Amino acid sequence: MFSSAIRSSLRSSSRLATRSAAPNRVSAFRSSGFRKYSTDAPKNSSNTLLWTGLGAAAAGGVAWYIYSSEDAVKGAETALKSGVQSAKAAANFVPAKEDYQKVYYRIAELLDDASDAGYDDGSYGPVLFRLAWHASGTYDKETGTGGSNYATMRFEPESLHGANNGLEVGRTLLEKVKAEFPWISYGDLWTLAGVAAVQEMAGPKIPWRPGRIDGFAKDATPDGRLPDAAQGAPHVRDIFHRMGFNDQEIVALIGAHAVGRCHSDRSGFEGPWTFSPTTFTNDFYKLLFDEKWVWKKWNGPKQLEDKKTGTLMMLPTDYTLVSDKVFKKYAFEYAKDQDVFFGDFSAAFSKLMELGVPTSQFVTPEPWIMKNLDEKA
Ligand code: HEM
Repeated sequence: MFSSAIRSSLRSSSRLATRSAAPNRVSAFRSSGFRKYSTDAPKNSSNTLLWTGLGAAAAGGVAWYIYSSEDAVKGAETALKSGVQSAKAAANFVPAKEDYQKVYYRIAELLDDASDAGYDDGSYGPVLFRLAWHASGTYDKETGTGGSNYATMRFEPESLHGANNGLEVGRTLLEKVKAEFPWISYGDLWTLAGVAAVQEMAGPKIPWRPGRIDGFAKDATPDGRLPDAAQGAPHVRDIFHRMGFNDQEIVALIGAHAVGRCHSDRSGFEGPWTFSPTTFTNDFYKLLFDEKWVWKKWNGPKQLEDKKTGTLMMLPTDYTLVSDKVFKKYAFEYAKDQDVFFGDFSAAFSKLMELGVPTSQFVTPEPWIMKNLDEKA
């Protein structure tokens, strides 16, 4: 079904991946010592308005920074209270793009601490990536609720929702970063970590911009908004159409399963999807087409395994990308051409990270492209 070029590229990537599958598989990451950044003096930037707004709120003033009055009404009370908190933490500090870039670098440096900690495949990238997605994927376009704005996964019961099992690893890790950069909101921190994870795992650049504010437990969404891996294509469509994604975007987003793994003590499922779970590639789609997938015989939930090695897995929802005709068309495109996948993934993931955030809150009309750690001057 596939061109020999693709097959041979798959073989070579599998070989590469197998080599790097040893516990110390951190070739995509550089080991780096601890570096603590001091923050520069406030600069004039597009953020000034935001922080002026926060300052006014802290002073008991009425102002909350707005781009458009339409969005401003929503969550105004929360915004004001959060503004007070943030402004206190900020102590008149006005973060500029360089400051967010420093946060990015710090997150990027932490990723391969996983290697020393003996965690998974030697990177915290996948779990941070998943945290960013679960923080955003609760969005409902009809009611405008959920999404990344208020970082409500900090609170019970959302932190205890079954779908979020294991994500405390990511949240706890990011507390280190929050302690060094207390002015950043949790929503911005978590989504920026998702961006850093993708980019540092050799994925595409993800346009991103800050402006999320910290909300309260009352802003949390009910359980059941994230997808159930045991279901079929109708469920996958219901969940992602609710967030505002179309079929092509759904297929692109699920390609995230090129990295990371399932943990039986978190989701019940077990194993990685690809041979290189810390490198972002289009291997997930290639494997879907090139391998023969059979039901795993075990005492766990229904999942597929590759017949050849029995070491890789696919969730029932992953398999809809080849069993559903429309999904399959896009998956095939992505299997054939990694650049096409990277472009579509970047656009869809950037959109995902912004779900639920009123436009008025963003500090810049155009998202930024953050530098990778190896582009650091
Ligand atoms: C139908 C849609 C999806 C379903 C049912 C699903 C389900 C799952 C499940 C069951 C796990 C294993 C969790 C564990 O045991 O640790 C997982 C892991 C993961 N998912 Fe998804 N997922 C979906 C879509 C997505 C999307 C859209 C993204 C990102 C854009 C994503 C990113 C990840 C990552 C990076 C991991 C690995 C986490 C780790 O290694 O700790 N998933 N997913």
